[in-house]
Amino acid sequence: MVPIYEKPGAVKVRPAAPGDLDAVLAIRNHAIEHSTALWTETKQTPAEGAAWLAVHLDRGSALVAEAGGEVAGFAVYAPWRELEGFRHTVEDSVYVREDRHGLGVGSALLAGLISSARRAGHHTVIADIEAGNVASVRLHERFGFEHVGTVREAGIKFGRWLDLTIMRLPLT
Ligand SMILES: CC(C)(COP(=O)(O)OP(=O)(O)OC[C@H]1O[C@@H](n2cnc3c(N)ncnc32)[C@H](O)[C@@H]1OP(=O)(O)O)[C@@H](O)C(=O)NCCC(=O)NCCS
Repeated sequence: MVPIYEKPGAVKVRPAAPGDLDAVLAIRNHAIEHSTALWTETKQTPAEGAAWLAVHLDRGSALVAEAGGEVAGFAVYAPWRELEGFRHTVEDSVYVREDRHGLGVGSALLAGLISSARRAGHHTVIADIEAGNVASVRLHERFGFEHVGTVREAGIKFGRWLDLTIMRLPLT
């Protein structure tokens, strides 16, 4: 499979494949269990993960990053809202294995995802980020996302209210 973004010797970003399910699910469930990146405390079962990934594989909206021969992270985009008026706006998600944070994997994934969404003809990418997630805010700033605003107490996890920072990148 042809990589769509490659930083020589470090990280290779390529379209996700069915065989990536276990690695992707492990990263996603770790984030559900240990962070406020995903606002649920319910881990995905393998069947739920497979169904979720299959939608992305059909749409071509999932990438994985390989580093050291292993899946080090993944990124997906999905419709921001379901009504057809929102059809040119997608929401991105980037997740990197904890032991690979801060090494440029998230940047490689987001670069690939933005290119992929642009090629697919989308107009706007939205990032919905827990306001205290400085790494994700910084990652999105790095790629030119503008701060739209922060919704106070938009959600709840681990028994505390969470604020939602919304960021936006125009693609066209
Ligand atoms: C957010 C995340 C995807 C960033 O990926 P990463 O591979 O660690 O990020 P990178 O190494 O590419 O760094 C991107 C930028 O963020 C900064 N950054 C990374 N980790 C940081 C941290 N803990 N605190 C502050 N800045 C940080 C980097 O310095 C870099 O900015 P710079 O170009 O100004 O130096 C990763 O930390 C992660 O998977 N977190 C858990 C899941 C999550 O929160 N996903 C986002 C949901 S909205």
